[in-house]
Amino acid sequence: MNIVVGITGGIAAYKAVNVVRAFVLAGHSVQVVATDAALRFVGKPTLEAISRNPVHTDLYEGVAEVRHVAIGQAADLIVVAPATANFIAQLAGGFAADLLGNTILASAAPLVIAPAMHTEMWQNAATVANVATLRSRGIHIVGPAVGQLTGADSGAGRMSEPDEIVAAALAVVEPATVEPAAGDLVGRRIVVTAGGTREPLDPVRFIGNRSSGKQGVALALAAAARGAEVTLIGANLEVEVSDGTGAGDTSAQSIVVQRVGTSLELSDAVTAAALKADVVIMAAAVADYRPESVAEAKIKKETQGDILQLTLVKNPDILHDLSAARSASNRAGQTIIGFAAETETDPEALLALGRAKIARKGCDYLVLNSVGWTTGFATDGNAVKILDSAGDIVGEASGSKKTVADRILDLLAR
Ligand code: C5P
Repeated sequence: MNIVVGITGGIAAYKAVNVVRAFVLAGHSVQVVATDAALRFVGKPTLEAISRNPVHTDLYEGVAEVRHVAIGQAADLIVVAPATANFIAQLAGGFAADLLGNTILASAAPLVIAPAMHTEMWQNAATVANVATLRSRGIHIVGPAVGQLTGADSGAGRMSEPDEIVAAALAVVEPATVEPAAGDLVGRRIVVTAGGTREPLDPVRFIGNRSSGKQGVALALAAAARGAEVTLIGANLEVEVSDGTGAGDTSAQSIVVQRVGTSLELSDAVTAAALKADVVIMAAAVADYRPESVAEAKIKKETQGDILQLTLVKNPDILHDLSAARSASNRAGQTIIGFAAETETDPEALLALGRAKIARKGCDYLVLNSVGWTTGFATDGNAVKILDSAGDIVGEASGSKKTVADRILDLLAR
């Protein structure tokens, strides 16, 4: 694919190098269009070496080849990272003051932008209105994340991590069509857990998490499409178990769905289903703790006073227990895959957390990703690394959750 990466003048421009690199390593041809201000933060030679192409900045270069419109016309996708408040304002106003502005106006390609600025600028009424204008025009906005900013301060405005930007951007252009079943998992019995557990406090309240179940459902659908017999154990799914193709929804029809609510219900369901499974994939976000007791009637502030103290008790670690009990329960050949969603954004530290986790859990593979307020949960894209039990990276995938599901299943099929 022909991807234009626009870089505007913010300190997060140094991270745009990794956005360019990820697209190139994924086999795409990348043209960088950087503003003059962007080149104060990151060097042209760096961008040329990483993109393997000349970097374009000047509106008055390449006039004979009508470059100010040619780059945009040839693009299949445009990604601007970072997108400063000033750039967002120009885009909302339709200005073509520089090469990037011209490129965007001259292009029919999907546009994805990753804002980066200080919290006050992000929350400024002008920026809020401009972002709303961009959204109404169908421009895709990734982030910003909440986290450390350039100075000592932190808050909303940190640019999303490069992997997340790349995953979200590729998810925008991937065709929504369902690939034909490869059949490489025919006869395999696969149990997938998905969603997020809810631990009740009283009849109307619970402690929950933000997992939507999208990645687990994508795994179940992809496995069924490849011929596996799938049991999906869904905890409070926010998505339909459907591949979206309507009447011919064959992969969804071949999935047995069991609905659960709490961690203990999920534990019972997956422990029973695992007895007959070749593979167990624990994609669900399982609560580590539950209230020690559940009130029979609604808890009232009138009787509770100013402070409500909760005692939480630890839930069983299902993934650990399933892995530990494998040989004792005649499941010796079973493959168990865990997931780790971490808020750590430093790639090395994230990897270290993943390695410690797979050692602790005892499963065969761990799918590791970084999540935050705006990333990971409930989004359509994902970016993961897959670790084996030795802690080595045996796979990486980014793109839509369906693409990520298929890369995980490729590993299983192999
Ligand atoms: O320990 P942590 O929650 O980070 O580990 C995530 C992985 O462990 C996921 O695969 C999740 O399904 C599983 N898990 C579990 N039982 C728990 C907590 C998490 O099986 N109580």
